[in-house]
Amino acid sequence: MDFKTQAIGPGGLAAIAADALLVVVGGQAVPAPLEGALGTVLKAAATDGDFSFKAGQLLYAHRVAGVKAPRVAFAAAGDGSLKNLRRAVAAGVALLKSGGARHLVVAAVGVGELGAAQAEAVVAAVSEAVYLYRHTKPSAPAASRLARVGLACSKAEAAGVGAGLLRGQAIAAGVELAREMANRPGNHCTPTHLAAETRRLGKALGLKVEVLERKDVAKLGMGAFLAVAQGSEQAPKFIVARWQGAARDVAPVVLVGKGITFDTGGISIKPAAEMDEMKFDMGGAASVLGTLHAVAALKARVNLVGIIPACENMPDGRAVKPGDVVTSLSGQTIEILNTDAEGRLILCDALTYAERFKPAAVIDIATLTGACVIALGHHRSGLFSADDALAGELLAAGDAALDPAWRMPLDDEYDEALKSNFADMGNVGGRAGGAITAAMFLRRFTAKLRWAHLDIAGTAWKSGAAKGATGRPVALLAHYVLAQAR
Ligand code: BES
Ligand code: MN
Ligand code: ZN
Repeated sequence: MDFKTQAIGPGGLAAIAADALLVVVGGQAVPAPLEGALGTVLKAAATDGDFSFKAGQLLYAHRVAGVKAPRVAFAAAGDGSLKNLRRAVAAGVALLKSGGARHLVVAAVGVGELGAAQAEAVVAAVSEAVYLYRHTKPSAPAASRLARVGLACSKAEAAGVGAGLLRGQAIAAGVELAREMANRPGNHCTPTHLAAETRRLGKALGLKVEVLERKDVAKLGMGAFLAVAQGSEQAPKFIVARWQGAARDVAPVVLVGKGITFDTGGISIKPAAEMDEMKFDMGGAASVLGTLHAVAALKARVNLVGIIPACENMPDGRAVKPGDVVTSLSGQTIEILNTDAEGRLILCDALTYAERFKPAAVIDIATLTGACVIALGHHRSGLFSADDALAGELLAAGDAALDPAWRMPLDDEYDEALKSNFADMGNVGGRAGGAITAAMFLRRFTAKLRWAHLDIAGTAWKSGAAKGATGRPVALLAHYVLAQAR
């Protein structure tokens, strides 16, 4: 889909030649700039009780006399905040996408001045609404006909809006890639498939891609990663992809994404209900690919390394057992008390591996704990970091990207739960504060790093009728990484 600015003069909306016009309306009454036929329709609908100005409210009108675009939708944006703007556009596009329109113009009135942030929010809403999964469902209705979207703005706003559209499109493409990869089922999206897709992305965007095989990681000493992988017939892959957009001596940001392509729990097997959703357990890996995509597409002047330890967690005659002790790449030993706490086992070796890049910051992203879903629900990702500055930057990036996180504690007291009589640590700490003890486990491998951890167990996908990957937290990560550009 192609997004462009569409400069219009005052009162020019009715004259716009497009297949559909989406008018986003901020405030609690028909805004003054909305004059003529459009204003008349909206005023009448409000008077008749068919339109209210509550964010997300919709009104559709077909072939309005005096309006050139044959399809008109109004969508209320309440106070005009970024969040409500995005919500209004999402609702409007959901209404229009199945119709005959190919060229849509979005206009926003009563929401204040339009800039890059507003443009980005509009792109995010449109591309989220039109994404369609087809990989294993070729019979799905053909993709929306919408091919062109214009964002109406004044001449003065055009430069900022144009820049926001470009940035927004790169981020939206990254979000879409993450959704697509995470939606693919476990028998399609294997570690080998993830590696192949990373190589394809590398060729298309100029990334250096390296894939370590089982024998390579064994030679390095990644005993924790290998312990998880050993119960599966699928070959594990340790994927490293690098974008070099800044000078060689600029320390990179390293993203580490949990790439469990299916999590049965292993010998500590999970119950059957909703186990299918454990195909999404590579959502962290998918977000790393999506962020690499966005950053490389923008040719951002940053150095970015993506590390993806990828494997399946399966029960098997050769699978790791509760009580087994393994030696991690760091040299620390781990008693695997619960084979379902596998994410931290693959991440700890990847975090140690990240040291070799002498990174400016390392952020791991993982669908790590059900406990995080209980703590924060599905709106905010859990953010853990002992570094206040890094935590602040990531929280700000999440707010700006409408992909918010919430900071969680890492007090030393929580570490006591990980004590083991047979190894340097156990891999679980009991039910209390489960998201925190998981983060404390990872913390034991990050003493040499400026590190943050994002637990996306509640935000990476939706369950129920709308079951599917969200592409989060690509927008948060892209905002953070792009802010490091020099
Ligand atoms: N991938 C799961 C976490 C998960 C569970 C995310 C449900 C979203 C929904 C992870 O590998 C896991 O199984 N964690 C365990 C840890 C426990 C054994 C300490 C959990 O959360 O139950
Ligand atoms: Mn698990
Ligand atoms: Zn898992």
